[in-house]
Amino acid sequence: MLLEGKNLSFKYKNTDYLFENINISVESGEIVGLVAKSGYGKSTLSKILAGYETPTKGQVLLNGKKLPNKGYNPVQLIYQHPEKSINPRMKMRDVLLEAGPIDYDLIKAIGIEEDWLTRYPLELSGGELQRFSVARVLNEKTKFIIADEISTMLDVITQAQIWNVIIEFVNKRNIGLVAVTHNKHLAEKICNRIFYLEKENRG
Ligand SMILES: Nc1ncnc2c1ncn2[C@@H]1O[C@H](COP(=O)(O)OP(=O)(O)O)[C@@H](O)[C@H]1O
Ligand SMILES: [Mg+2]
Repeated sequence: MLLEGKNLSFKYKNTDYLFENINISVESGEIVGLVAKSGYGKSTLSKILAGYETPTKGQVLLNGKKLPNKGYNPVQLIYQHPEKSINPRMKMRDVLLEAGPIDYDLIKAIGIEEDWLTRYPLELSGGELQRFSVARVLNEKTKFIIADEISTMLDVITQAQIWNVIIEFVNKRNIGLVAVTHNKHLAEKICNRIFYLEKENRG
């Protein structure tokens, strides 16, 4: 499978273009880095690639077609801020169950403790919550993952642990991964190739 962002330009209302004419693609089984400084539009581009924001110009295609707007999204976005993407009124067990049956080996590998499952999102730290937003996209319906700075709120050991689980999962299931980060060294360590969102792409 192929996920392509073609000639993407984006501006928020009443602002200049954040970026113009970006072409970025990722194939199944590939790990592509998306690297830029803070404020350059990484989170915006991540949302566009997952279909949660509409580009001002250009289009996002999955195998040459528009992303489906019904059912499970095969392009899953892990948000930079997990508290924005997890329903505060749901217990963590139900958050996971929404994505399918719970894989206890997987959640253990990600460092989720079983008694967290009976808690609400507000009863977890940002890093603990982020592990749930990783766990729920690692399922068989996901074909591409856009991981937007998922490790910034985790300590170094947990970061390594979670990236290992994700990389093992995407390799095994032939999933395409876009690893979004301001950390060039992290990207160089885990990615097959890196897309730099630079000043030249900016409006
Ligand atoms: N809804 C919005 N309306 C207007 N400006 C926004 C909005 N969301 C983000 N921005 C601005 O767009 C720029 C890029 O933001 P973002 O995509 O979050 O960058 P990054 O993830 O690289 O830090 C920032 O200057 C930010 O303030
Ligand atoms: Mg961001």
